[in-house]
Amino acid sequence: MSEIRGRLALVTGGASGIGRSIALALADEGASLALVDIDEAGLQDAMRQVENRGASATIHVLDVTDFEAVKSLAERVEPQILVNCAGIAQIADFEKTTIEDFQRIIDVDLWSAIYTTKVFLTSLEADGGHIVNVSSADGLIALPGSSAYCTAKFALVGLSEVQVMELRGRGIGVTSVCPGFTWTPMVESISLKGVDRGRLDRFLDLVRPLVFTTPEKLASAVLKSVKRDRYLLVHTPLCKVLYAVKRISPALYVRVVATIYSGILKRVGVA
Ligand code: NAI
Repeated sequence: MSEIRGRLALVTGGASGIGRSIALALADEGASLALVDIDEAGLQDAMRQVENRGASATIHVLDVTDFEAVKSLAERVEPQILVNCAGIAQIADFEKTTIEDFQRIIDVDLWSAIYTTKVFLTSLEADGGHIVNVSSADGLIALPGSSAYCTAKFALVGLSEVQVMELRGRGIGVTSVCPGFTWTPMVESISLKGVDRGRLDRFLDLVRPLVFTTPEKLASAVLKSVKRDRYLLVHTPLCKVLYAVKRISPALYVRVVATIYSGILKRVGVA
């Protein structure tokens, strides 16, 4: 999609972190925003920031796992850009991840994108639209301690890959966004099981300058990908290297890279 000015972009998870930064970057390019989230105060704040940039925004307090609510939103909003960014995460090994954890994470991180894409497909097609699915580097390279999250994010990458092939002929572009660690409120509020919060925080402080990117840098890369109609965005050099290792030798990735990462997780208390 070469021209973003004048388009309406719907951003789920628009109240915070990466979703909010993508919304602001879209506003800077002249798009109008429909911001969707469960966090009303965050939405109000994000709307003010969009308006301060001279763009218009509406806010919609909505649980994106509620298909009926998403369907009713489609009666009021007809976006040309759809950014599926709402998400939750957890660090827990498979044994400690309950069925309810799996269901909740897959609902928010995967089903929500299926719901929104189903209901907004017609309006996306009407005017050469674009879908941005915010998956994760964890959707390309699995990490120990993220079984529910990786399950959802790998599936979202798979869905995006199907969509980019199926929808190209209908004039809809698709970008699959796979970021590495990005410093957002999610990092501080992530659900933990078998992980010591204090040890994790100390570890994160240590590695933050080395491995974390910012939501603003990521949003700028997302906008470039949308404008150039690029399918896959893997963000941060470290993630690119890890993904390359996995493509060259999945066995090497699993044995060496994951072993190193397991050692790190052990330091923060994951069994
Ligand atoms: P965040 O916690 O700052 O933002 C997530 C937003 O989603 C929040 O505003 C939250 O209220 C909203 N949300 C959660 N459940 C919802 C629901 N049921 N209905 C509506 N809204 C809901 O987190 P962040 O980091 O900005 O994450 C955004 C996306 O980026 C997520 O999909 C996440 O998995 C992905 N991501 C994040 C990375 C990171 O290191 N922060 C790395 C890779 C991907």
